[in-house]
Amino acid sequence: MAEPSNIEIPSPGKVIAICSAKGGIGKTLHTVNLAVALAKKNLNIAILDGDFQFGDVSLAMDVQPSFTIKDVIEEIDRLDSQDIKHYLASHSSGVSILPAPEKPEYAELVTSENLQKILTLLQQQHDYVVVDNGVGIQEQTVDIIEKADQILVLTNLEMTALKNTRMMLETLEKLGLRDKVRLIINRYNMESLIKSEDVASMFEIENEFYVPNNFKVASQSINLGIPIVTSHAKSDIAKAMFKIASSLTSDPIQPKPVDIDNQSKLGSRKKGKQRRKKWFSFKRKKGGDGK
Ligand SMILES: Nc1ncnc2c1ncn2[C@@H]1O[C@H](COP(=O)(O)OP(=O)(O)O)[C@@H](O)[C@H]1O
Ligand SMILES: [Mg+2]
Repeated sequence: MAEPSNIEIPSPGKVIAICSAKGGIGKTLHTVNLAVALAKKNLNIAILDGDFQFGDVSLAMDVQPSFTIKDVIEEIDRLDSQDIKHYLASHSSGVSILPAPEKPEYAELVTSENLQKILTLLQQQHDYVVVDNGVGIQEQTVDIIEKADQILVLTNLEMTALKNTRMMLETLEKLGLRDKVRLIINRYNMESLIKSEDVASMFEIENEFYVPNNFKVASQSINLGIPIVTSHAKSDIAKAMFKIASSLTSDPIQPKPVDIDNQSKLGSRKKGKQRRKKWFSFKRKKGGDGK
């Protein structure tokens, strides 16, 4: 009889997907700062730049990468989780980065299968994988948010952002992913006709996060490529980032219990997949929005 193995298999890291229905809302700023805030808790953190056409995480962190996800994909069949480390750029905070390809046309190389494998390899090496997504919900975003433990949806108080965020939340509901979502109201104290405190009830959500508006600190950080939680650790934005990071680690959204009704859990996962397939095929056929 085989001896029981003493080798402990570490549990895979958690995936945090940062999304927004509009561009320019603050996804990259949040990705970078939440990743560095998590790294300051002595956790092993990777960022996947999931804005595969126009990713700018490397720029926002002032790193000059030697490799991108395109190089990983070219070797994907030969790689294990040790090998992938070689392709990651490292930031002085300890955060590792898998950058987006250097040209938008390479984005289509990131297939569903590649993405699943890359995320799994990154999870094997890190406590958290923070993913900066492209705008809205594209097929690659669906692969990522499906694998994510938590989905952070960012909005601000502009009417167009709120309208599109509502549609995004409705879509996430249709995809059966709504229970993983936390809303971040970025620039919550910006001048606006809509009050930030009304947004949660408008969307019927709870446990939302609020991040203040601080143009000077935010633009300086993006332009210099230094995360706010490093350069302005005592600023109002940094405090909000530390608070979100703590909440992610101390109060993670728990997956629904598996054992009580294993069959129905598997059943609902299958149903979720079928729903997603249906949604995308409908979208392709009609050129519509899947309603
Ligand atoms: N809380 C904030 N206060 C002030 N400016 C912000 C804030 N969050 C983001 N910004 C600014 O908004 C712009 C877009 O942010 P970015 O993270 O690049 O957005 P995205 O990745 O969603 O396109 C940047 O110039 C950034 O400095
Ligand atoms: Mg961005």
